[in-house]
Order: sequence, then C-alpha cells, then structure tokens
Amino acid sequence: MRKMNVAIVGATGAVGTQMIKLLEDSSLPLGSVKFLASKRSAGKQLSFRGETQTIEELVPESFDGVNLALFSAGGGISAKFAPEAVKRGAVVVDNTSHFRMDPEVPLVVPEVNPEALRKHKGIIANPNCSTIQMMVALEPLRQALGLKRVIVSTYQAVSGAGNQAMEELKQQTQDFLEDKPVDQWQANILPCGGDKKHYPLAFNALPQIDVFAEGGYTYEEWKMINETKKIMEDDTIKVSATCVRIPVMSGHSESVYIETEKTATVPEIQALIAEAPGAVLEDDPSQQIYPQALNSVGKKETFVGRIRKDPDEEKGIHLWVVSDNLLKGAAWNSLQIAETMYEMELL
Ligand code: A2P
Repeated sequence: MRKMNVAIVGATGAVGTQMIKLLEDSSLPLGSVKFLASKRSAGKQLSFRGETQTIEELVPESFDGVNLALFSAGGGISAKFAPEAVKRGAVVVDNTSHFRMDPEVPLVVPEVNPEALRKHKGIIANPNCSTIQMMVALEPLRQALGLKRVIVSTYQAVSGAGNQAMEELKQQTQDFLEDKPVDQWQANILPCGGDKKHYPLAFNALPQIDVFAEGGYTYEEWKMINETKKIMEDDTIKVSATCVRIPVMSGHSESVYIETEKTATVPEIQALIAEAPGAVLEDDPSQQIYPQALNSVGKKETFVGRIRKDPDEEKGIHLWVVSDNLLKGAAWNSLQIAETMYEMELL
C-alpha cells in the first residue's frame, strides 16, 4: 500500500484545523504529515494522532516529498503555491475559488461527479461551501426528475469567512450583551474583508458575501451559479442565487426552489433524498422535524427537509438544505476527494 505524505496549507485556519481533525481518522495510509501556515504561526505545536507536530512556514520547498497537499489559506496563496506543489510532485486539492472555473481543473463533489477526477492535471478544486451542499441535495432529484431551474437563498454561517470573522461576531455579541451602542461595535472584516465598508453581523443579516460583480450579483452568488453548471455538466440549467450572511457560527442553511422536467409527489421526492449518498432526510412537519444549522455542526452529511410542492406549479419544489460548512462545505469534501482519488488509484 502506497503511503501518502500529506501537507495541509492553512493548517491554523478555520478550515485547516478541521482538515487536521478529519485526517486523524482518515482511511488514507499516511506516511508523513506537514502542517503549513504563515510565518506568524511557525513553531506553534499541535497534537496529531498522539504525537506533537510543529507548524512550519509555507515556502516552495515545503512540498518536496509531498504526495497530497490540501490548500485552504486563501486564493492568493493557492495561486502562488499550488502550481509549485504540483511541480514538486504533489496532487493539490484546493479549497479556494482560485482554480474552480479553470476548464483544466476538475471541480468535484464526490457524490455527484467523481469521474471528473480522472481528468486532473495535478490540481482539483473543492467547490464553494454553499454549492457543495446544494449539489448533494439536488443531484438525486436531477437524476430522477431532470432539473430545469434552481433559485436559492442562503443563510450562511460566519465560520465560512474564517477565524477572525468568528472572533469579530463574538465580540459584537458581547458588546450587545453589555449594552454598548451599535456605533461603538468593531466591524473590520464582514461582510467582506476586501471591500470598502464593514458592518456588524451580530443580530443582523448581511446580503453580501464576497464583493459585488456583474449584474448586481456578488461573487459568492456567481460561484453558486457557475459551479452548479460545471459540476452537473449542464449549461442549460437555469440558476440564480441570493447569498446572505447571518450570525450563526457554523452550519449553512439554504432555501432552495427547483423546477424539474417530470412531476413527483412529496413522498417520492423524500424517498429520493433518503436514498441519496451523503444526504439525510429530516422532514416530518407533524413532529416539527427539519434540518437545523446547530444540529449539523460536526457532521459530514447534508440534511434536507421542508420538502413541499409549489402550490401553483406542479413541477416546482421547495427544499431546506443544511450542512456544516467547515466539513462537507470545505474540509470533508476536500479530504473525501483525496480518499476517492486514492480508491480510484489516481493518487
Ligand atoms: P496564520 O494563522 O499563520 O495566519 P482563516 O481562513 O481561518 O482566516 O485561516 C487562514 C489560514 O491561512 C491560516 O492558517 C493562516 O495562517 C493561513 N495563511 C494566511 N496567510 C498566509 C501566508 N502568507 N502563508 C501561509 N499561510 C497563510
């Protein structure tokens, strides 16, 4: 059995720390592990499978001898270091948006399009967190009923914006509880670190994730639109999105409306979800059972409920889709890609 030497880039970040936890339990046969971050973190120690590991500063030579590199340190770092890692013999699974729409780079949700992995040229992109969970819920419906249109509104957790954004929300919440006036709350990161203005997220809902782009949509919304078509390999699916950040720590929720080619009853749709890989049906209004962000934290599955038909459109279906954005939306999907590649003998 070939041993894998694995590097995690962004090992101290919100996603990176989850990658490390998942790697501890991974089925991949591990040789060595290497945890990489910025100079600021170099020398810090952490425990991995009972042994002490030291965080190293990311440099090009970090990838010598590495077979698999999981990146989650921002698009700029991936742009610079992922090609370097490939040059030195590693396969890269990149959690940032940098390579996602590159036609040479497979964009993969293992439950949906694992065969795309065969075309890789060294880099595989992990889709956007909100896109991934929507794909897990919609692929079984697409296969059985055909998919014509998707209209999604997201309710996204702050951990998707990283550790500093989580700290900012905690501080604002504290300020609220201490009766500090809102204009004295610190807001330096959200809604988007790279944009001009910043607003508090505590007790708020911000209809901006990432910067604004074409047509009044944000990049996050364009990611959901474009990535859905790429993963499902169908440019004819109509997709539109509104992405909203809410003061939840982890667990993205989505209100998804779809129009299918064929009609189906609610029990038929529920059965399709119940049998789908990676999906869990939580749908019993009589018992107030439906997916909740809080319950999704720490779980790898995508939870689907509130399934109901559009009263005026027989091929229109509403769903509520929830998953842990740091796991299935990021760290788990990345590691699952790596494990799938290993099983397919692509690693
Ligand atoms: P560090 O903690 O040393 O800054 P998050 O998404 O939670 O904000 O985390 C971002 C991750 O990316 C962290 O692990 C962070 O490391 C890492 N990172 C940021 N800038 C760099 C850099 N220039 N080189 C390597 N890693 C970086």
